[in-house]
Amino acid sequence: MCGIVGYAGFRDCSEVLIHALTKLEYRGYDSAGIAVFDNGKIKVCKSQGKLEMLKAKMEREGRPQGHVGIGHTRWATHGEPSDVNSHPHSGAKVTIVHNGIIENYRELKEFLSSKQVKFVSETDTEVVAQLLNYYYDGNPLDTIIKTIGELEGSFALGIVFEDFPEQIYAVRRESPLIVGVGKGENYIASDVPAILKYTRDYYLLDHDEIAVLSSEGVTIYDEHKEVVTKQLMTADWDEDAAEKGGYEHFMIKEIHEQPNSINMTVKPRVEDGLPNLSECGITHENIKNFKNIFVVACGTAMHAGMVGKYVIENLARIPVTVDIASEFRYRNPIVGKGDLVIIISQSGETADSLAALRLAKSLGAKTLAIVNAKGSTIAREADMLIYTHAGPEIAVASTKAYIVQLAVMYLFGFELALAKGRITEEKCRELTSALLDTPELIESILKNDLEKSQYISTQLITADSLLYIGRGLDYALSMEGSLKLKEISYIHSESYAAGELKHGTISLIEPGMPVIAVATQPELLEKTVSNVVEVKSRGAMVVLITREDFKIDENAYDYRIDIPATDDTLMPMLAAIPMQLVAYYTSVLRGNDVDKPRNLAKSVTVE
Ligand code: G6P
Repeated sequence: MCGIVGYAGFRDCSEVLIHALTKLEYRGYDSAGIAVFDNGKIKVCKSQGKLEMLKAKMEREGRPQGHVGIGHTRWATHGEPSDVNSHPHSGAKVTIVHNGIIENYRELKEFLSSKQVKFVSETDTEVVAQLLNYYYDGNPLDTIIKTIGELEGSFALGIVFEDFPEQIYAVRRESPLIVGVGKGENYIASDVPAILKYTRDYYLLDHDEIAVLSSEGVTIYDEHKEVVTKQLMTADWDEDAAEKGGYEHFMIKEIHEQPNSINMTVKPRVEDGLPNLSECGITHENIKNFKNIFVVACGTAMHAGMVGKYVIENLARIPVTVDIASEFRYRNPIVGKGDLVIIISQSGETADSLAALRLAKSLGAKTLAIVNAKGSTIAREADMLIYTHAGPEIAVASTKAYIVQLAVMYLFGFELALAKGRITEEKCRELTSALLDTPELIESILKNDLEKSQYISTQLITADSLLYIGRGLDYALSMEGSLKLKEISYIHSESYAAGELKHGTISLIEPGMPVIAVATQPELLEKTVSNVVEVKSRGAMVVLITREDFKIDENAYDYRIDIPATDDTLMPMLAAIPMQLVAYYTSVLRGNDVDKPRNLAKSVTVE
């Protein structure tokens, strides 16, 4: 989960690489570096810390001048973030940048050490650079093919050979990589936003394919050195979509983009008032007979699955198990023919989610991917695919990608319930129409609850720890609320089923401790409120997120955030918004780097 870029063209290469890396910083930001052919010689400049540090270093020491080069932004896996462990890494004749993990790097390092090769860093990447150098025989393509034949693990590599100053080489296995195509200039990048300033056309590189780029063109080879003809793709969003557009942070911009993302995701999948997912390979016939459903994902995507479980079980009456992907893949799950495994992933590249997908397929289950990144590995490998159309999400903390994952879980749940005859067509129309109305309701929440959320954040900033509580759908949602807050504010937070509090966790409550309670379900309201009263009477400072039409005793809470009412099932789509706002403002007030929280990366392509 690093970002790699490369450029061969007529522009100032250092400038292009730095620009492209700023668009990939969400993938890692603990060090950065570039290598550019400067007067025919590879000149490397790299630095620990965010891209700004590299830029400052380049100002101080002089930037490499040239038109061909590669760059990297790192999220450390092997070796701490330091100048020496930063990419690019070099052997005598070759310099590389790498995203991924080389699993057998220890064996390879031992082998190379036995051949008197010396290493300067602790990285697995340097081993690849030295191996390429070891096999280098004057022919870059042969050298790359031989080298990758010995690598185990995941990689996307950008490579330059000292003897070929006009060219960059790229190869991938598991880790994502695209090849951008311009006029008189070509690019490589881990993700599309990196190249959008220059071109929207790109190729998706497949496993073990090797791209050779110069200013004049791109040739792609397979591992047998056969030239491969690829379909040229065109990004369907422009650079503005990946810019802050006047907002202070990407996160708040993305929060405001949610109504549009829902419209883009839902509207094209509704026909005659009912869900129609046939363009995604989903028909009543092929979904109505599943015995069990598993939703497997990581982080926020897994939380979307938690809401999906309540929706599907409630409406379609099929048992749904939600699994954390890293657990699912190693717990010998009882999954097989007749089961459906749904993988949810914004990036479509998360290593554990991808492994879970492959495991599910190998066990004979049908797979459905719910993915935001077009052409990503998970999207390509699943049997059925529903794209979410959130557009590019840059902030590490997910907001708009989450809301559309929810929207898709709803659409799918409605369709499944109808296919199984568990709800009538009329009910399905009612639910679908309520889903179509959520963008407007979210607009009103963004207008009416912004200041309140800001104010409540001022009451949270000094907390050491807080709790999110709720029941049923509200509990599923509060898991995401809690994650949002902790990942960007660095305040410890836990989500708890409200009814379970008294079995231990309530002992944590002490005067002033914030508790954020979510109560949007009429049937559970009384019970949740009585749990709220239990914590309030023990001194908790209670923030209640609830429906505007609910009458609740004012003594039960300290602050109340009202959201409009819609169908009960759909309330999480609305209640999510104040949670996101509270997390955002708390992080801002604490002076944190909201879009790039410490220790995190947006796309986790390692185990
Ligand atoms: C990382 C991100 C999370 C994200 C999770 C799963 O941990 O920081 O925001 O939810 O990965 O990512 P995916 O791309 O599979 O949705």
